[in-house]
Amino acid sequence: MSDSHLLSLQAALPTLRLLTDAADLEHYGRDWTRRWAPAPMAIALPDSVEEVQAIVRWANAENMAIVPSGGRTGLSGGAVAARGELVVSTARLNRVLGFDPVDRILAVQAGVPLQRVHEAARSHGLQYPVDFAARGSCSIGGTLATNAGGIRVVRHGNTRHWVAGLKLVTGSGELMDLGRGLVKDSSGYDLRHLAIASEGTLGIIVEASLRLTDPPPPTSVMLLALPSFEALMQVFAAFRARLELQAFEFFTDLALKHVLAHGAQPPFAQAHPFYVVTEFACDAAIEAGALAAFEQCLEQGLASDGVLAASEAQAAQLWRLREGITESIARYLPYKNDVVVRVSAMPAFLRETQALLAEAYPQFEVVWFGHIGDGNLHINVLKPESMAQDAFVADCENVTALLAQILQAHGGSISAEHGIGLVKKPYLSCTRSAAEIAAMRGIKAALDPKGIMNPGKVFDAE
Ligand code: FAD
Ligand code: MLT
Ligand code: ZN
Repeated sequence: MSDSHLLSLQAALPTLRLLTDAADLEHYGRDWTRRWAPAPMAIALPDSVEEVQAIVRWANAENMAIVPSGGRTGLSGGAVAARGELVVSTARLNRVLGFDPVDRILAVQAGVPLQRVHEAARSHGLQYPVDFAARGSCSIGGTLATNAGGIRVVRHGNTRHWVAGLKLVTGSGELMDLGRGLVKDSSGYDLRHLAIASEGTLGIIVEASLRLTDPPPPTSVMLLALPSFEALMQVFAAFRARLELQAFEFFTDLALKHVLAHGAQPPFAQAHPFYVVTEFACDAAIEAGALAAFEQCLEQGLASDGVLAASEAQAAQLWRLREGITESIARYLPYKNDVVVRVSAMPAFLRETQALLAEAYPQFEVVWFGHIGDGNLHINVLKPESMAQDAFVADCENVTALLAQILQAHGGSISAEHGIGLVKKPYLSCTRSAAEIAAMRGIKAALDPKGIMNPGKVFDAE
């Protein structure tokens, strides 16, 4: 955007709040990837749906690229603005609009942080079950745009399952009211589901109607220490057979080391290769079942130690060991993989991936963790301090190409929950067919005919 663009936008929308200071451009132009130098031309902060529509119509007339922006906690570069785009932030679209107790639907504007949705749900005696560590800073619009997953997918599914409706300002500035809270609707294509996981490439989500559910049952949290990767899926099977799992998350000793260096308390006197944090619905009888499952795993050599949280404070401490990983390794600018296969394919996929990475990355620290109960692994390669970021990424990309082949062989996906953005764009064709990508391009052309919505993210224009 040139000065003349800025003047034209100001003339078209005289009351629109616009930021152009260098510090604001830097702040709003990047996400958690920190791989691309932020270079937006301006930040627009609309505070009404009409203002969003007017911005998009202006951008159409001026052929101006727009980057929709929520909390910028994204891990795929989807909210990066590095090419002179206009960032449209939802920060001021931050109102909870209302709750319908019959439908159990909470309506919110897109900029409301996930944590405020949790609080609003609790205030109505219910829960919104999508949850993860960025809850305080990510926006609900961002969670829809990425179809975020998190720590409770094993029990409740991902964001898509909870969206009863959404309002989308399309790339041509139309306002579409999609889903409208209907439990059933067979009247043609469900455009709501196209907007979910579209990463801002079809339009700007301005409102969401979220289904709430019963509050969580009383739960217990357990940390298990495991001797080997092979034990992981067997322990999962043993626990799932006896318990109503709310979460089943794993991490390696190296991940734990980083969280401990960040101030957490060591859980056991000695280190173990692998750990699982699991949370399950619990009463006295079930607790006995949990301990029996644990004993069985100990006897079979699948687990080597374990602790059942005796208080809420201890449960929070155990969760911190898992939830603190991303922050604790952020300073190493990790190269993040977010891969998924069917749970049944996990043992073979793990074996092959471990063998590949042991050979490919002897020189790097590799931190494994993830939502093992969903078949979703996060493999984070840490950049050595002495290495330039470009060279490091180039090295990692060579290995990702091989990892993508393993994924393809197992019918998996290159992104389980973080999205494609810029980071995974080169690998989309490894896990989506040419016909699928062509269909995606066609859908984009229908909703964003001028290609102004987040261009260059997910796939390139042909
Ligand atoms: P942003 O980063 O601002 O944007 C993400 C994408 O959505 C971009 O493409 C952007 O253009 C688009 N977008 C944003 N708002 C809108 C809108 N209103 N309309 C249209 N498009 C929009 N993710 C998980 O899935 N599971 C996890 O467990 C998880 N844990 C995390 C833990 C930490 C500590 C951090 C930092 C991140 C984690 N994430 C996780 C990633 C991230 O928080 C999610 O992807 C989240 O959904 C992004 O929301 P956001 O508002 O920050 O989106
Ligand atoms: C997580 O599971 O902790 C998140 O997806 C964040 C990450 O992968 O770093
Ligand atoms: Zn995750």
